Amino acid sequence: MTNVLTSTKLTAYKGSVFYFTDNPRFNENAYEYFHDGVLYVEAGKIVEAGNYTDLQAKYPQAQVIDYTGMLITPGLMDSHVHYPQMEMVGSYGEQLVQWLGKYTIPTERKLSDRKYADKIANLYLDELIKHGTTSAAIFATISPTSSDALFEAALKRNMRVICGSAYMDVNTPEYACLPPHEVYDFNKILIERWNGKGRTNYAISPRSAYLLSPAEMEATQALILDYPEVHIQVHLAENKESGDMVGDLFPGLKSYTEVYDNYGLMREKTIMGHCVWLDDHEVELIAARKSSCAFLPTSNLFLGSGLFNLQKANKYRATVGLGTDYAAGTTLSMLKTMGEAYKVTQLRKAFADNPRAVEPLDPLENYYLATLGAARAMAIDEYVGSFESGKEADFIVLDSKSTQDLSIRSERSESISDLLFALQIIGDDRSVAHTYIMGNKMK
Ligand code: GUN
Ligand code: ZN
Repeated sequence: MTNVLTSTKLTAYKGSVFYFTDNPRFNENAYEYFHDGVLYVEAGKIVEAGNYTDLQAKYPQAQVIDYTGMLITPGLMDSHVHYPQMEMVGSYGEQLVQWLGKYTIPTERKLSDRKYADKIANLYLDELIKHGTTSAAIFATISPTSSDALFEAALKRNMRVICGSAYMDVNTPEYACLPPHEVYDFNKILIERWNGKGRTNYAISPRSAYLLSPAEMEATQALILDYPEVHIQVHLAENKESGDMVGDLFPGLKSYTEVYDNYGLMREKTIMGHCVWLDDHEVELIAARKSSCAFLPTSNLFLGSGLFNLQKANKYRATVGLGTDYAAGTTLSMLKTMGEAYKVTQLRKAFADNPRAVEPLDPLENYYLATLGAARAMAIDEYVGSFESGKEADFIVLDSKSTQDLSIRSERSESISDLLFALQIIGDDRSVAHTYIMGNKMK
């Protein structure tokens, strides 16, 4: 693939246009929907979205691309994913800690080979585009080569991604460990090489507190103080066993979340993956620090980790984005991920003391979590996630006639909410007719 050149012509994409301007959970005017709509794009940026009949005369020079009957929305966003794990999706029979030791760390070792890393990075980003995902927060491995490969592949496609090499130093084989005294320079080199290049950002990625010694945490604290603007991504409270291990490693600290807070890791632009086993105080702390939660339903179901409590996150107004956590997660499709998120909320009802108090996940809120919500969780919403004028033109075209089951089901839909629900429950990469990155058609 060659570098992508952005078209400078004004283009009108006709179709049903839908996007969020805010969280529908807290704002009843949180979205825009134009059934006979149009999205104007020029030089890779959104010019305007609205009703076609209202805007047609304003832009007579626009070249029209007709997607009538299809749904044009912002690109889908994955707030937490591990690209090096592609070949081991569906690794059988283990829960988190054993799955990591038996399958994950040995597989990630292969990424120190640059040729293999390039192959997986390019395959991964091609798959993202195929699935309509235009941005992601991505973990690479302890090998800097794996970060280099991903960033180069993203630059070739001009994609807005966040990525960082995950590091750790305990409960891990020697070959996958980064000693505390190397934490600073290891990250500094990668930050200076990649952060802000093209549309990419580096994320400092201390993998998870059950894999880091207090000395590794201290080294991380020194690093992040020198890089206050750089993204951070971690795992938090994924399953009970890993939580107990954190308790053993940091006996003086009250909770898993407070371990991160103690070392200054919880700030704006920190994405905490999983957040399954948190008490109210921890969720409150995440919200107070303006960090965010990544809700990773297919992973939590596959590894049997637990059921994320969206209602609790909403109670404290913690920022939440949806993600795949591939390849503990079982799909790169954010449509399917939304379907599984819905099922998690349904299951929560089954286990609740007061089932009536547990609400099903609203299809609009679910779609928000995979678009603007995830962009907010990744702190890239000033660029992407909606169709406000001036935002970058990453968008998808969804075709509810793409398969027979979706076609017959969506014909019953009398509202945008129900159409989105049909897409979430039975849609997949076949429902994504086109994917545009900065106004360039990539699928
Ligand atoms: N915790 C630490 N590393 C990982 C990982 O790669 N995947 C998941 N699901 N949890 C983790
Ligand atoms: Zn993960």
